[in-house]
Amino acid sequence: MSTVLPHSTSATDIDAPIDEVAVSLIVNGKTRHGRCEPRRLLVDFLREDLGLTGTHAGCEHGICGACTVLLDGQASRTCTLLAVQASGARIVTVEGLASGEQLHPLQQCFHEHHALQCGFCTPGMLMTAIDFLHTHANPDEGEVREAMSAAVCRCTGYTGIVNAVMAAAALGPMPLPAGALPE
Ligand code: FES
Ligand code: FES
Repeated sequence: MSTVLPHSTSATDIDAPIDEVAVSLIVNGKTRHGRCEPRRLLVDFLREDLGLTGTHAGCEHGICGACTVLLDGQASRTCTLLAVQASGARIVTVEGLASGEQLHPLQQCFHEHHALQCGFCTPGMLMTAIDFLHTHANPDEGEVREAMSAAVCRCTGYTGIVNAVMAAAALGPMPLPAGALPE
């Protein structure tokens, strides 16, 4: 009796081009279209296909928070999402916070409280803090420290970051940035 062996992956299969798929996002209030392989990470799509390099890639394992954006109004890691999974979503990146030369109030607090050194973590910190402040009015320091532990900073020691977020909380309820949700 003959046995049919399962199909094995050949070098030809591995080298075969992968069909690209269409991805459409509303990023910082503007509709953006692109095409990419289904396996392309959202962080790579934002940075390399759309040129929005403010979103940083750190660990690429969902740990450090450097790649955090607002996705449909919620802080979300873009290194653990495929671009195609996010198709149709509204995204706000750090480029969408300032209004011309006018910093977003949270950015201004980061500036005034010296909440950054190298700045690598800062975009993810800002997006993490906006989501937190939008959903938590009048947080105490312990709540701020716990929330900001979702984003890893390697150089500030966090004191300035916590002070900046507390200062932003004192300004009153934090609205989501323009374009985060449908009008
Ligand atoms: S790069 Fe996404 S969590 Fe670290
Ligand atoms: S400012 Fe350098 S990693 Fe946070």
